[in-house]
Amino acid sequence: AHNRSFSVSSVFDFTSNLFPLSSTAGNGYAPIGAPISSTNPQTGIGGESLEKHKTLTYLNGLSLIVGLIIGSGIFSSPSQVNINAGSPGASLIVWAIAGVLAWTGASSYAELGGAIPLNGGAQVYLSKIFGELFGFLFTWCAVVVLKPGSSAIIAIIMGEYVVRAAIGAEAENVSPWINKSVALVGLFGVTLLNCISTKLGTKIGDMFMFLKFVALLGITLVGIVVAITGFSASGDANQDWKTIGWFEGTSTDASSWAVALYAGLWAFDGWDNTNYVVGEFRNPTRDLPRVIHTAMPLVILSYILANLAYFFVLPLKVINSSNTVAVMFGNKVFGPIGSLILALIVSLSCFGALNAQTFTSGRLVYVAGKEGYLPAVFGKIGVRKDEITETSRLHTRSWASKRMARMFGDEETGLFFTPVYAMVLNAALCACYVFVGEFGTLITFYGVAGYTFYFLTVLGLIILRVREPDLERPYKTWIMTPFIFCCVSLFLLSRAVVAEPLQTVIVVAFVVAGVPIYYWRIRGRDQVNQRKMSESEGSGQSWKFWKRF
Ligand code: ARG
Repeated sequence: AHNRSFSVSSVFDFTSNLFPLSSTAGNGYAPIGAPISSTNPQTGIGGESLEKHKTLTYLNGLSLIVGLIIGSGIFSSPSQVNINAGSPGASLIVWAIAGVLAWTGASSYAELGGAIPLNGGAQVYLSKIFGELFGFLFTWCAVVVLKPGSSAIIAIIMGEYVVRAAIGAEAENVSPWINKSVALVGLFGVTLLNCISTKLGTKIGDMFMFLKFVALLGITLVGIVVAITGFSASGDANQDWKTIGWFEGTSTDASSWAVALYAGLWAFDGWDNTNYVVGEFRNPTRDLPRVIHTAMPLVILSYILANLAYFFVLPLKVINSSNTVAVMFGNKVFGPIGSLILALIVSLSCFGALNAQTFTSGRLVYVAGKEGYLPAVFGKIGVRKDEITETSRLHTRSWASKRMARMFGDEETGLFFTPVYAMVLNAALCACYVFVGEFGTLITFYGVAGYTFYFLTVLGLIILRVREPDLERPYKTWIMTPFIFCCVSLFLLSRAVVAEPLQTVIVVAFVVAGVPIYYWRIRGRDQVNQRKMSESEGSGQSWKFWKRF
């Protein structure tokens, strides 16, 4: 099997993995006669893995994190923060606090990612700190609900804005199925791009990051100009901001502040996105902290400025009663053409967020496949590089795929050197959520399960400092940051539980249901691995790789 030259297209190769025709494919374990040194029990054939090809740069990391954080939140519903904080001044403070909190979480993850520089994010940290069951339960929730669910939310919002850009305010009356169809097209498009080429996914990400910053900067500048000149398309400039009491009406109720904070945190959520792919960084220990400490302050600053701009341009009443603030903003300053442009920008921003999320979700599923949590096929890449010899690789391929590989910068690995099966699974799950479209439960799920895992992971950082003081930590965060993050996430968690007791029970039941699945999945895996590991040394990230750190 190993001498077969690579003459079929890589796409065929990927389908043959799904529908195994030969003894080498499908079961995830090495074919008889394969060279043991290059065979990894979990990655299966050839032991080829993404982590062996470190391609991600500082810029790519930055766009993965910024790309997901700046989605639709800042453009659509600052009203949630405003209404609950009670006054514009208080709402700006909530935005700042939410941003700093997200930053404390991200700094903690930077330390963990530096100490354990592997793909998988919280999965590997929790496994190392609390035992593999915890890592598994995180993966179970993230792969089945958190990741595809939040992608579905982003995709549907994208659909809504695309339709709005196409037909204007009429969009509010169209069938939700039109939005959903657009969402699905976007989802499948993004998935396809990320299956074809890693470089393509990251290049698109870089582009969208610039777009998002430019958009927020543009909103800020327009806001300032409008405040100074009083310009408005309809001629009735908003004078509110000159007279409002900035702190008048500030809420004194802790639970309103919690809701405001939670809404703010959603807009900052996604700060852990780069951690999922640390294993693919060229220089993870240097770049991960740099990425986080550049991304977070930039995002915080641009969110606060954008909110100020909204206050300058729109009356408070309008901001608070709208779910499409950015579009209103465009309309007020430039008229219908302004709404169109802003609707387009928000659609593109959501598309970029979907791209950033798909890139990392695919890799989370892929690590789960490698660890044996999912069938081994999900831990494979699209091409089987063991069958591509160094010299024949680019010669035996079709002209088009060679050209494309050059164009995207994938000459070294070729196209489809991506976690194709994992991406397909992620897209399929996400499509289910788009169909169902019941987001209330999903958001509670996020509040309860998502924050439980954030809390546990950051708590784990503290535990690890005590338990393994000598572990090499290229980056150490200020010790107060994990403490602050833990306190606040515990507080938010308790509010979510009190607010939605019934849905909390469902979430807990779902998490607990992962326990028997864990024992079922690892039993078979461990038997095989015990045997294989005694025969060979694995390559790349593999079974219990995190134990080495
Ligand atoms: N911050 C994003 C937005 O404002 C939402 C991110 C969703 N979270 C996630 N982990 N996918 O649209």
